[in-house]
Amino acid sequence: MTPTTPSTPPSVLLLGFGAIGRQVALRLAPEREAGALRLRAAERKVAAHRDRVLPGVGMVTTGDEAGWPRWEEALAEADLVVECAGVAAAREYGPAVVAGGTDLVLTSVGALADPETARRLLAGPGRLWVTAGAIGGFDVLGAAADADGLDDVRIRTTKVPTSLVQPWMSEAEAATLRALRPGDEPVTVFAGDPAAAIERFPANVNVAIGLAWATRGRPAAVGTTPAESAPESTGGQAPAPQDAPGAAEAALLQASLERVRVELVADPSVVRSRHEVLATGPAGRFELSFESAPSPENPKTSGLTALSVTRTVREALAARHG
Ligand SMILES: NC(=O)c1ccc[n+]([C@@H]2O[C@H](COP(=O)([O-])OP(=O)(O)OC[C@H]3O[C@@H](n4cnc5c(N)ncnc54)[C@H](O)[C@@H]3O)[C@@H](O)[C@H]2O)c1
Repeated sequence: MTPTTPSTPPSVLLLGFGAIGRQVALRLAPEREAGALRLRAAERKVAAHRDRVLPGVGMVTTGDEAGWPRWEEALAEADLVVECAGVAAAREYGPAVVAGGTDLVLTSVGALADPETARRLLAGPGRLWVTAGAIGGFDVLGAAADADGLDDVRIRTTKVPTSLVQPWMSEAEAATLRALRPGDEPVTVFAGDPAAAIERFPANVNVAIGLAWATRGRPAAVGTTPAESAPESTGGQAPAPQDAPGAAEAALLQASLERVRVELVADPSVVRSRHEVLATGPAGRFELSFESAPSPENPKTSGLTALSVTRTVREALAARHG
């Protein structure tokens, strides 16, 4: 990370320049045009994205393409990295970003479902910013969870069937989803916990892990000592020392991931993806529903995610000066 003086605008590096990355770049136009930030975007195959490049956004490669600046060079100059490339890329690149002392905005929040990745993303010294993404209301839910006021947290996500077809599905399963027509009964394609959901549907249920993050509560809400709040499962990895940086947060998140229930529904009659959150407990009953307009870049993706990420980027940049 290059030290930023008042005359040097902060350097923001997008990891992934797809539907969300490009929208975030467009939304940050006021800052870019005012010279208040420098923006670069990384793609694995930059040449394949040539027609999508925006003026003033420098492209870099995470791949081995000749002729483009490399990810490592851009990262060394970045003040903030904004991941919008997918769960696999978040797991591959995110931990090294924070370990190198650079702040990271995470869009593929599902990466946090893996205990070891979560531990590393939360270990600093770079700060992790978890975007709310396609849902919200986290001020209310977070406040209730902080007071140990939630016993039950659920999310039902309903999407157009074809958007839920996955490479691991059998031909018959995929064909069933493709054959659904408006008016047909909705089909539940998954019911269970967020970690299993993101494993099977890596681009569709980031919201469930985001919900678990938002309702993780405070250390006192789970156990009185970090040891009491540690999860039983660490994904086969040696557990981190409980006083390691970020370990208490990671333990809270794992406990929260075990509480959240996810249902993923394929409904041929929906026009917009819908997310319904229900949280209940001593603090009350909270029901939230989200149906955002589609992304102008990709009609299958909710437009709200790019708006949430842009907001998180602005918050992260403001905090650097705070
Ligand atoms: N938090 C939320 O609520 C929420 C909602 C929607 C999507 N998401 C996450 O955001 C991700 C991006 O969504 P999108 O609609 O922009 O997808 P997209 O497919 O349009 O864009 C992803 C881009 O990242 C690039 N990419 C992938 N791996 C890369 C790598 N290793 N190096 C460089 N570039 C790489 C791809 O080439 C692609 O251009 C999704 O995969 C999902 O994980 C989160």
